[in-house]
Amino acid sequence: MSGVPVVLGVESSCDETGFGIVSDGVLLGQGLASSASQHAEFGGVVPEIAARAHLEAAVPTLRIALHDAGVELRDITHVAATSGPGLATAVHVGLAAAKSVAWSLGVPLFGVHHLAGHAAADTLEHGPLPAQSIILIVSGGHTSILHVKDLVADPIEHLGDTLDDAAGEAFDKVSRLLGLGYPGGPAISKAAVGGDPEAFSFPRAMLRPGDQPYVFSFSGLKTAVARTVESLERAGEEVPVADIAASFEQAVVDVLVTKALRAVQEKGLDTLVIVGGVAANQRLRAVAQERCDAAGVELRIPPIRLCTDNGAMIAAVGDLLVRGGASPSGLQIAADPSAVLHGAQLPLPAGFAV
Ligand code: KG4
Ligand code: ZN
Repeated sequence: MSGVPVVLGVESSCDETGFGIVSDGVLLGQGLASSASQHAEFGGVVPEIAARAHLEAAVPTLRIALHDAGVELRDITHVAATSGPGLATAVHVGLAAAKSVAWSLGVPLFGVHHLAGHAAADTLEHGPLPAQSIILIVSGGHTSILHVKDLVADPIEHLGDTLDDAAGEAFDKVSRLLGLGYPGGPAISKAAVGGDPEAFSFPRAMLRPGDQPYVFSFSGLKTAVARTVESLERAGEEVPVADIAASFEQAVVDVLVTKALRAVQEKGLDTLVIVGGVAANQRLRAVAQERCDAAGVELRIPPIRLCTDNGAMIAAVGDLLVRGGASPSGLQIAADPSAVLHGAQLPLPAGFAV
């Protein structure tokens, strides 16, 4: 291992405890634990439960990652951890674990932005990103179209974000109102199998001429689904869950792909990268592939296991930062639960910055 960085990544921003080990752009191994089943009865993530689950899972999951990678703890040369955004209580646990490892080994620590991790996940499967690309981030808390150059060296330009709900949040809310449970994305996808995506024509917000081209809004769609369910129930009719789920999915996917592809074309680029938990959605993957093929655009989406939160993606950012010569954050890095994505590495808290 001499000379080659071996980077440990730590993720704990929501309900997944993830440790990943990456060296020179290659994923050596990872460990992942989820507290999703503990939140199901509450219909969403309960921060205190998530934090406790991270605390319990941290050491065993780190051991699994080391074993999977075939390395010893002493082989780790750098540590990277999500320092934001995310649930404050949850981020603190992973960040404290990362600090403990970095301090005990005497190795540098990097505080990284969770969403940069989602983007970096794709490099583990498809290699370095092109010089410029459009990245559509679709997660439980964020939906953005980004113009990305060097992911770890250049500022990240937001072409547009969501005005209200994130795409994943829309899946979670609609799942709850259809009685399908948490997490909503996989539940809706499962329910939509065999459903007719044209059965209901739900609104495609922000797609009219004159609307902001890269901005999203999903709260109206959620309300439209709620109204549809209410009026069917009031009329005493059976709610066609598969058709509603498929039509809802189609409406979300239609808007996401239309806007992201428009960004690629209007910026004169040739690569679209789709990342984040919602990128695990089969309909999104299929529709994006079809429309990118028709437009002559290269589509990159990480494999499903790397779309939802994991430690490998954070290790991937750390590895890119190390190889790019970035300065470590140091042990004084603090959690920033509402950090906006301007760059892959999060700045030190005010007063510590050099
Ligand atoms: O990226 P992620 O794991 O966590 C955040 O950073 O938020 O994304 C979680 C989100 C949840 O809202 C979940 O419902 C959604 O991703 N999701 C999906 C699918 N799998 C997870 N949405 C649609 N289809 C899926 N198959
Ligand atoms: Zn995420």
